[in-house]
Amino acid sequence: MHASKKIVVTGGAGYIGAHTVVELMNAGYEVVVIDNLVNSDMTLITGIEKITGKKINFHKGDCRDKTFLTNLFRTESIAGVMHFAALKAVGESVQKPLEYHENNISSLITVLQVMREQKVKDFIFSSSCTVYGQPDNIPVDEHAPFKKAESPYGLTKQICEQILEDVYKTGFRIISLRYFNPIGAHPSALIGEMPIGTPNNLVPYITQTAAGWRDKLIVFGNDYNTPDGSCVRDFIHVVDLAEAHVKALAWLQATKTTALYEVFNVGTGNGVSVLQLVNAFIRKTGAKLPFRIGPRRPGDVEKVYANPEKINRMMNWKPRYTPEDALVHAWAWQQKLSR
Ligand SMILES: NC(=O)c1ccc[n+]([C@@H]2O[C@H](COP(=O)([O-])OP(=O)(O)OC[C@H]3O[C@@H](n4cnc5c(N)ncnc54)[C@H](O)[C@@H]3O)[C@@H](O)[C@H]2O)c1
Repeated sequence: MHASKKIVVTGGAGYIGAHTVVELMNAGYEVVVIDNLVNSDMTLITGIEKITGKKINFHKGDCRDKTFLTNLFRTESIAGVMHFAALKAVGESVQKPLEYHENNISSLITVLQVMREQKVKDFIFSSSCTVYGQPDNIPVDEHAPFKKAESPYGLTKQICEQILEDVYKTGFRIISLRYFNPIGAHPSALIGEMPIGTPNNLVPYITQTAAGWRDKLIVFGNDYNTPDGSCVRDFIHVVDLAEAHVKALAWLQATKTTALYEVFNVGTGNGVSVLQLVNAFIRKTGAKLPFRIGPRRPGDVEKVYANPEKINRMMNWKPRYTPEDALVHAWAWQQKLSR
């Protein structure tokens, strides 16, 4: 089975999935993309086709639809799955906890059931640093305990990881990648982050404000216990994150172990404050960015950044880009969207 290079990417029409599809194809994998387009459209698929010069094997469908998945897995010879499909807006998850639990957990379970039935064992899961909450020690490493989740979204990631920890023992080979804060766009500006509606994430908010789509950026709080009072995060370029997936898959395919579960932080190891990022954007792009300081946003942790030593050491992965590169790339993508 592992000789096949065909990988299913769920949620591959979305932001991180699309960038990973490009890196997988660059590395010689064949990719089958599944997405129900609940939070995307075909724009990024078209962008991937332009970047790679290849037609994408795309299937519109839902990860909770077992018949759909089974038919797909029967017709394609699948070596592994990267599971990005999920609802991901922290704030919305507070309003719609049932939808978040149902989508994120049922999707995972259904994909795993079909994998088991079709004897596909290699699985990479999109986890998040939200599983740590506000950790006691920073930089945070993979041994830090889960804190009480700040949102239903965060809880779905904790529950999914716990399910994976149970399930791998029955013969799966699983990696959870705990992403810190993915930002940026492909350097070609052909794919990037394209939130539907008001962005929840900082960088699309920054670029949409600078492009005049929004009046003003609000920085949530400047009275945190951080050097400039704004929250501190570990911003990682989405292409570096995509490359981490390819390394993780290659590592998984190279190991002979029949059942394993490994968790990796994927971050740069550097804490950068929200205000530092805002100022870097203005400095690097020369764009006008009206912003004001607003109140703290419920659910935001004060500061979190990764200890990435495990992924550095075990997968020889290191980021190639800086947060400034990511801002320049995100701005180029935004300008393309604005045209
Ligand atoms: N962007 C971040 O800041 C961040 C941080 C940590 C973890 N993650 C995780 O990474 C993954 C990808 O995030 P993203 O930023 O690319 O989000 P995204 O919304 O751009 O992509 C997710 C894709 O999954 C699809 N989808 C959702 N539910 C589905 C279902 N049931 N069946 C089929 N397709 C479905 C959506 O249509 C979308 O295209 C998610 O699991 C997310 O929770 C994201």
